Amino acid sequence: MNEYRLTEEEYSRILALKRDLHMHPETAGKEIRTTEKIREMLLEIPGVELLPFENPLGTGLVVRIRGSEEGPETALRADIDALPQNEEYESEWKSRVPGVMHACGHDFHAASLVGAAMILSRAAADGALRGTADLIFQPAEEGTRGAAALIEGGLFDVIRPDRIFGIHNWPSVRSGDVVVHEGPLMAGKRNFTITVFGQGGHGSMPHLNIDPIVCAAAVIQSLQTVISRNMNPMDAVLLSVNRIEGGRKANVVAGQVEMSGTVRSLSDRALDRAIERIEAIVKGTAEAYECRHRIDWERRIPAVSNRAEMCVYARKAAAAAAGAECVTDAEPSLASEDFALYGAAGIPSFFYWVGSTPPGEKAEHLHRPCFHTDDSAMKTAAALYAASVLQIS
Ligand code: NI
Repeated sequence: MNEYRLTEEEYSRILALKRDLHMHPETAGKEIRTTEKIREMLLEIPGVELLPFENPLGTGLVVRIRGSEEGPETALRADIDALPQNEEYESEWKSRVPGVMHACGHDFHAASLVGAAMILSRAAADGALRGTADLIFQPAEEGTRGAAALIEGGLFDVIRPDRIFGIHNWPSVRSGDVVVHEGPLMAGKRNFTITVFGQGGHGSMPHLNIDPIVCAAAVIQSLQTVISRNMNPMDAVLLSVNRIEGGRKANVVAGQVEMSGTVRSLSDRALDRAIERIEAIVKGTAEAYECRHRIDWERRIPAVSNRAEMCVYARKAAAAAAGAECVTDAEPSLASEDFALYGAAGIPSFFYWVGSTPPGEKAEHLHRPCFHTDDSAMKTAAALYAASVLQIS
């Protein structure tokens, strides 16, 4: 198994790809150049077959590497999109696109999966790959629409994986270490927009108006009680209103107020209950203030949860890729990941974190303007993707 790691030459190729993607980041659903660069490099690898899958977003790609006839079909997923924010970290490969940055390391994931294709191609040629590997380069993870688009666009008519593995780089973990966590790892979430409708008018005549700003303030205050009064303190639940907009002038009562936020939990049951309470509180508060209201819920993303039987494979693969001494555990996060939707579609799934902060540096967390990765950890990530296929095939 140990020979199935990146050679120095392969590593230098994926490093060049990663830095090229980093310099030319593209946001969710717009990963046209990114897709092309990944495709170009994949098609140079012997035995990589481009699958005829057109996802509705028009970006990303799925390829296959065939081993022997007998054996399981294993899918590996990397996301490829960047974020709409400015990069502040100085490097030769700093983003050349103002206002767009790979601040979540999806360039690291994509290049690592290309590295895995190189390793799996060699394994297939050696007769060491039993079954099939499907490599999914998924667009639009940010905003969590990509996985849904692929699944609804018929991904599982084209591939039929027995298992699926994904990786996220994780800055707070020592570079090159692999987190194999059993149970919920990343939160289920539902984002929402609440609109409170009042009756606008001159600020001097409150008796003729219905003020939605006062109502919105009461809604936000009351929503704080969902966590403090309705949740089991042993469950991790988060509820935040992160945007509020309404009104334009000092002397005019606004006609409506719009608020957006997110509710998240590692527990699906707690998330159900929080959603139920949000609906009741908004309805009741709006009525109390004589306002009308509307709640627009975005698609629910389930928690990323690693089941015990998948942990057995994952631990084996992680030990083969990184060495048993580098397999570790970590506290779960309330960040969410649309990788959860592959599991929700019934495919046994496992999600790893790979440590990515350069040794000796303080971790710059995901989505920060100075986020950057220790690129040598891509050697671990590429070997880990490959081992997830080879260790169980
Ligand atoms: Ni990410």
